[in-house]
Amino acid sequence: MTTSESQMKAVTVVVGTRPEIIKMAPVIRALQKNEFPLIFVHCGQHYDYNMSQQFIEELELPPPDYGYKVKAYSQGAQTARIITHMERLLKKTSPALVLAEGDTNGVLATALAAVKRGIPVGHVEAGLRSFDLRMPEEHNRRLTDHISTYLFAPTKNAENNLKRESVWGKIYATGNTVIDAVIQHLSIAEKKSKILEVVRFENFVLATAHRAENVDDLAVLKNFMETFAEASQPVVYPMHPRTKKRLQQSGVYTKIKKFKNIQILPPLGYLDFLVLMKNCEMIVTDSGGIQEEATAPCIRKPVLVIRLSTERPEAVKAGFAEVVGIKKQKILKAMTRTLEKRRELPAKSPYGNGNAAEKIVRIIKKELTF
Ligand code: UD1
Ligand code: UDP
Repeated sequence: MTTSESQMKAVTVVVGTRPEIIKMAPVIRALQKNEFPLIFVHCGQHYDYNMSQQFIEELELPPPDYGYKVKAYSQGAQTARIITHMERLLKKTSPALVLAEGDTNGVLATALAAVKRGIPVGHVEAGLRSFDLRMPEEHNRRLTDHISTYLFAPTKNAENNLKRESVWGKIYATGNTVIDAVIQHLSIAEKKSKILEVVRFENFVLATAHRAENVDDLAVLKNFMETFAEASQPVVYPMHPRTKKRLQQSGVYTKIKKFKNIQILPPLGYLDFLVLMKNCEMIVTDSGGIQEEATAPCIRKPVLVIRLSTERPEAVKAGFAEVVGIKKQKILKAMTRTLEKRRELPAKSPYGNGNAAEKIVRIIKKELTF
């Protein structure tokens, strides 16, 4: 491709789930600032207003140029459907580069559709590894990394994972754009959000759980609910639709809604969620992004990771996070210990200082115009 051809062609940014919208928001802004021709696509993995469009509006992103809805299918069917419509779209638009972020089925589908059309892929948040092959995310991130042209690794550890696997693409260590997102939105959140008026408790633990290997296992899910009900501090729990669906299917959702120690909320917008992170005593979660956000200097909260593994060892090493497993007694003990000890947390985040998106866009500019 000649310089003038690649300069004229667009960069396509694809998102599909709530964390992708949040983590790509700073990248979209940086691309706009640098006057890149941009095609913004929502591949349709998440489709409820409060899991997708809510974030596009709140984060003041442009409306997607192309948007899809994939509804609920099996893992394979969901991936296949996204490949099909992304392939059609890429044939029609022929961008210079496709950017995808993270480890969802939508990311793998997008990357596959792009490479099959000979379009380079830039993988934002490349190189994370949980080494837990029960997780669909581990399949997605490994496969996407091996077909990407540019790999934007958030940390040295992620960069080393990629080097160890001898990926073909070019690796750049950039920091994680989630820190950019927290910095760009927290002060707006503190002005606009009214969520603390809704929360019933003065001091609370913030909890989320949605990982398939946790909540699709009814024993684990019930165990989490019992843990929160018995915790020494009340728990505020914005509930992911996957989790709500599982609790409803097992007939215990209505009962849990009445527990005095747990306040279940719908999936929240980013501004409300940031305010809860800022004001909680600690976070108990199986989320990936939340483990990172808790390390942002303006949040700085201890996190208990209710999983068997994490692909974010940097947060553990820095002292923010602890992987406590999925058993009730272990989680309860760790909660009590964390609340009693109140360790001083580092002033710096291992995920960068908020300029990851600018770095990524500088690299793209260089790569597409030399
Ligand atoms: C997906 C990602 C996960 C990411 C999460 C972000 C994969 C394999 N998983 O998990 O890595 O952490 O998004 O939140 O890609 N649902 C709705 N409305 C929606 C979206 C989902 O009701 O807008 C319900 C449906 O019942 C659906 C289920 O949640 O079947 C699971 O959705 P899906 O996108 O397949 O996976 P997530 O659990 O959201
Ligand atoms: N988040 C949000 N509202 C919520 C729960 C989470 O805005 O009710 C944000 C959170 O701040 C983080 C992202 O969503 O940026 C994490 O998404 P999720 O836990 O669904 O996915 P993961 O990061 O595990 O892939």
